[in-house]
Amino acid sequence: MSSSIFSSVAKNQVKKCFNIHDLRNLAKQRAHKMVFDYLDSGADDEICKKNAQEAYHKTKFKYKVLSGVDSPINLTTKLGKYKLGIPFFNCPTAGNKMFHVDGESAVATIAEKYKTIYSISSLCTTPLETITPLHSQPKVFQLYLWKDKALLKDVIQKAKESNYNILALTADFGFYGKRERDLRNGFTIPPSYSINQIVEAIKAPQWTTDYLMSPGYTYACLNNNVSADSLANFVKNQLNPAFSWKDAEYIINEWGNAGPVALKGVVRPDDAKIACDIGFDIMWISNHGARQLEHSVNTYDVLPEIRKTIGDNKQIILDGGIMRGTDIVKAIASGADAVGIGKAYLYGLTAGGIHGVDRAYEILIDEVERACGLLGIQSIEQLKREGKNLLTI
Ligand code: LAC
Repeated sequence: MSSSIFSSVAKNQVKKCFNIHDLRNLAKQRAHKMVFDYLDSGADDEICKKNAQEAYHKTKFKYKVLSGVDSPINLTTKLGKYKLGIPFFNCPTAGNKMFHVDGESAVATIAEKYKTIYSISSLCTTPLETITPLHSQPKVFQLYLWKDKALLKDVIQKAKESNYNILALTADFGFYGKRERDLRNGFTIPPSYSINQIVEAIKAPQWTTDYLMSPGYTYACLNNNVSADSLANFVKNQLNPAFSWKDAEYIINEWGNAGPVALKGVVRPDDAKIACDIGFDIMWISNHGARQLEHSVNTYDVLPEIRKTIGDNKQIILDGGIMRGTDIVKAIASGADAVGIGKAYLYGLTAGGIHGVDRAYEILIDEVERACGLLGIQSIEQLKREGKNLLTI
């Protein structure tokens, strides 16, 4: 199912990765530098990125012993009316084909394998309808508030027609974050023919061969077929910090009764309250992978207060800094209905295409299961009920 001629090598290589950090190292070896840096970086000094991962370390487990846990642990859970096979899923991320030719289809196929949500970015490099037959579980379509209203209407319509269930409106993208590694690398997709980029392409022979042998790609949800290399200009022209809650209401109305609507990028209880009041069903606590505002709060730290403010009638998705199954367990125990992973699965995709994504899921599932068992917890539902008593905060 992989489109890479290096598929069987990758399959063996990812088996030797035992945690997400190993997949990250392999991704770094394999990919063109500017691609790895685009995926790996945070904004400015990358302090927010570092803090996001470390936030989970402060919480310790007060585990139960002799609680008669049966194996396997029941990892199924619910996000509102949707049933998930595991308590986490992939966050929407842009341009998956630049990381690896397997692209978005690989991520959707693995989400199907583990019976979890698949979410796609409106900057995807695979058409929405290509995903539909690959994935029968609930699907999230992520939307940016572009200035171009006709384009917004058009992508919302496409998402409805392709059976996407949940709309996630990204609210933290009025300006583009300052990603200094991208600026230094002269990040462009495809690579420009600068000496530096050619040298880096030669240093990444597998990535470069795959790239040269694959058909070119465009951003599939942009109806004017923006080519991948003009993305930066497109995004710059379409961002608008003037957007407000009124625009969010407009989007909720456009989605209509197609399914729940999530607000992605919430970190404040008062914003969560407004969002609930105007009709959002899901609060997606996120700081955009620490790629936008440096020194943003850690999403994990604000979760308990947001849960307290909005109560149990609305759902919470949490993403940010998830590198371990124990991070997922802590987030669920602290009030998240489901957890989003971002860099973790993209390291897998970049390291080994579909095999790497599968390996990332396998690693995290094993770690979640092991942590639950050692905590004395039989199921994710029990973790949701009793989790707070198992943590020091
Ligand atoms: C990013 C955008 C495209 O973080 O979501 O790079």
